[in-house]
Amino acid sequence: MKTHIVPVLIAAGILATAAAVITARGGRLVATAGAADAGAVARGSYLVNTIGCGDCHTPLKMGAHGPEPDMTKFLSGHPEQIGPMPAVPARGGWLWAGAATNTAFSGPWGVSYAANLTPDQNTGLGIWTEEMFIKAIRTGRHMGASREILPPMPWPAFRNATDDDLRAIYAYLRSITPITNHVPDAQPPAQTTN
Ligand code: HEC
Repeated sequence: MKTHIVPVLIAAGILATAAAVITARGGRLVATAGAADAGAVARGSYLVNTIGCGDCHTPLKMGAHGPEPDMTKFLSGHPEQIGPMPAVPARGGWLWAGAATNTAFSGPWGVSYAANLTPDQNTGLGIWTEEMFIKAIRTGRHMGASREILPPMPWPAFRNATDDDLRAIYAYLRSITPITNHVPDAQPPAQTTN
């Protein structure tokens, strides 16, 4: 009996050791990838919240001390409940007008609405790849390929960011809470005669 049990126990021991090593290796690999992602997300959070993407992409609401960002709508763009804003014709030195939320802007470019930057699949950056995001910021084209991105989105400044920083911003934007908010389409410049 003993002669049978001993080899079995040894074999089981070897298997257990092998399994432990694989698990440890797997754990380490996952931990390494996780740490790299966490690093990018942290850097992206620092960049987004220092540059102030939310100044235009998070709607303002009226608070006790005046307008303040509505953090329940963090980076979700112009609220669809407010809907499209009437184009305001420029007069004299008054070139542009904005919504109280600071998410819609009327000017010589027409009316632009700050986009939903949350990872919501249908109304946010859900289907955007990292490549699309970097290309959009670098070229000033929607999704990196189609129509021009209108003012006041400061892509001509953001295009100077490094690939690593843009990747970090993208990683962070993927990590925030998805919010379903269908931002209205941009409108062409107002046809006005006065
Ligand atoms: C001064 C206001 C403002 C700031 C600050 C701002 N944006 Fe925007 N952003 C806009 C507006 C307005 C649009 C919509 C433009 C349009 O429809 O053409 C936009 C659109 C976008 C889009 C969508 C472009 C597309 O292809 O549809 C992305 C992505 C974006 N912004 C990312 C950012 C990031 C990231 C930051 C911070 C690093 C930022 N924005 C800061 C105003 C701003």
